[in-house]
Amino acid sequence: MRVLVVGQGGREHAICWKLKQSPQVKEVYAAPGNGGIAAIANCVPIEATDIIELADFAESLRMDLTVVGPEIPLTLGIVDEFQKRGLAIFGPTRLAAEIEGSKVFSKEFMKKYGIPTADANICGSYDEAIAAFDARGLPCVIKADGLAGGKGVVIPATRDEAVATLSEIFESRRFGMAGSRVLIEECLTGEEVSVMAITDGKKVVPFAPAKDYKKAFDGDEGPNTGGMGSHSPAVVLPAETAAEVMKKIVLPTVQGMADEGRTYTGCLYVGIMLTPDGPKVLEYNCRFGDPETQAQILRLEDDIFDVLLRSARRNLGETKLTWKKEASACVVVTTKDYPAGSSKGHEIVVDPIADDSVVVFHAGTSKKDGKLYTTGGRVVNVCARAATLSDALAKIYANIGNVRFQGARYRTDIGYRALGQRAASAAT
Ligand SMILES: Nc1ncnc2c1ncn2[C@@H]1O[C@H](COP(=O)(O)OP(=O)(O)O)[C@@H](O)[C@H]1O
Ligand SMILES: [Mg+2]
Repeated sequence: MRVLVVGQGGREHAICWKLKQSPQVKEVYAAPGNGGIAAIANCVPIEATDIIELADFAESLRMDLTVVGPEIPLTLGIVDEFQKRGLAIFGPTRLAAEIEGSKVFSKEFMKKYGIPTADANICGSYDEAIAAFDARGLPCVIKADGLAGGKGVVIPATRDEAVATLSEIFESRRFGMAGSRVLIEECLTGEEVSVMAITDGKKVVPFAPAKDYKKAFDGDEGPNTGGMGSHSPAVVLPAETAAEVMKKIVLPTVQGMADEGRTYTGCLYVGIMLTPDGPKVLEYNCRFGDPETQAQILRLEDDIFDVLLRSARRNLGETKLTWKKEASACVVVTTKDYPAGSSKGHEIVVDPIADDSVVVFHAGTSKKDGKLYTTGGRVVNVCARAATLSDALAKIYANIGNVRFQGARYRTDIGYRALGQRAASAAT
C-alpha cells in the first residue's frame, strides 16, 4: 500500500513513523514533509493547502490512502475533493470540519445537542461584544470565531485589555474574516485534558487520553503556544470521567453531526476542562492534536494504517485500539523567540541517542545539502516511553541536550501537573 501524509509538523512525522512500521505499507509520501520526515518518507514539495495539486498527485500515484494532519486543508475541503475523485482520505469533509473552523458553529451545535460547554454570547459587532462583556464581568474569555493559529483566544485580566482586544478584532480586523464574530464566554476552571477518537461517522474508537502543556514557560506562565509538551496517559483524567466524556460528549457529538447532515469522519479532538460541575468542552479540533499525537503513537500497539483506512472507508466495524501500559511523553524544543517569532536558518545538530526508547520527531526543520536547519518556531520533539511517566520524562531530559541549535529552548517541567497524582486509576 502507498500512503500520502499531508503536513509538515511533529504530528505528521509521528504518523509517518508509525505507518512505516505497518507490514501493509510499502511506501510513505509526505507533502511537504520536513527534514526528519525526509529520512523515512518521500517528501514532495506541495503545500498542505494546495488541494488540487495534492489530489492530482495522489491520483497519478494511485495513493491507497491520504492522511491529513493540519486543520486548514480540512476546512478548505481537501476531503471533499479527494472523495469526488474516488480517492480514500482520512479526515472530515469541509462541512464537518466547521466544528473546528467556526467556534460560533460549534457553540450553537453544543447548545442544540445538550453537550456540556461554557455558556457564551455570540456577538457580531464591537458594541454587542462590549455589552456582553460588561454583563458577564471578569473573568471571561474572548474568542474569535474562525481559525487564528492558536492566537484567537484571550482571557483579559482587565476591562482595558478586553476593550483593546475587541477593538483589534473588530476595528483593526486583526484576524480578518475569522474575527467578524466573537464569543464572549464564561471562564471555566479546572484541569485541561485532550480526548481524541477516530470515527467513521457512526462507530467511535477512542484514542488514549493525553495532556498537553500550552503555555510557553515553566509553571504554565507566559503566552499560549501550539504546545510545548505532552504525555499519555493524561493521568489527571480518571477512568470513570473518561467514560463520562465518551458518553456525554464524544458520542453525542458524532451522532449530532450526522443528524446535522455533516457526518464526521476522521479524528475528533475534544479539548476538555474538568470543572467542579463535570467535564465541559473548551473546543473541538477536526484532526489529531500536536504534540499529543507524538506521545500517544508511542503507546499504540496496533497497525495505524488499518484504523485510518477503515475510518476513511466508513468501515470501522469492531476495530479496537490497544495501548501499551507504559507512559509516554513529548517535550518540544523551540527557537529562542517562539511563540512571538520563529528564527529560521539555524543549523541543527542531532547527536546520536543511545537509548532506542527515545525518539526525535521533527517539526520546523528542513534538510539542505545533508544539513538540517530550523524553519519554524517548534523545531523538534524529543519523545520517550517508559514504565512510568517520570521515567519517560527523565529519559527525555537526559537526552534533550543532544539536539543542538542556536537559541534552542524547552520547558523543563513537562508533566508536572500529572506527577504526584496516582497513575494507577488513570484512563488508558
Ligand atoms: N471558557 C474557557 N474558560 C477558561 N479557559 C479557557 C476557556 N476557553 C478557552 N480557554 C483557554 O484558552 C485555550 C485556547 O482556547 P481554545 O478554545 O482551545 O482555542 P484555540 O485552541 O483555537 O486557541 C484553552 O486551551 C484554555 O486554556
Ligand atoms: Mg485549543
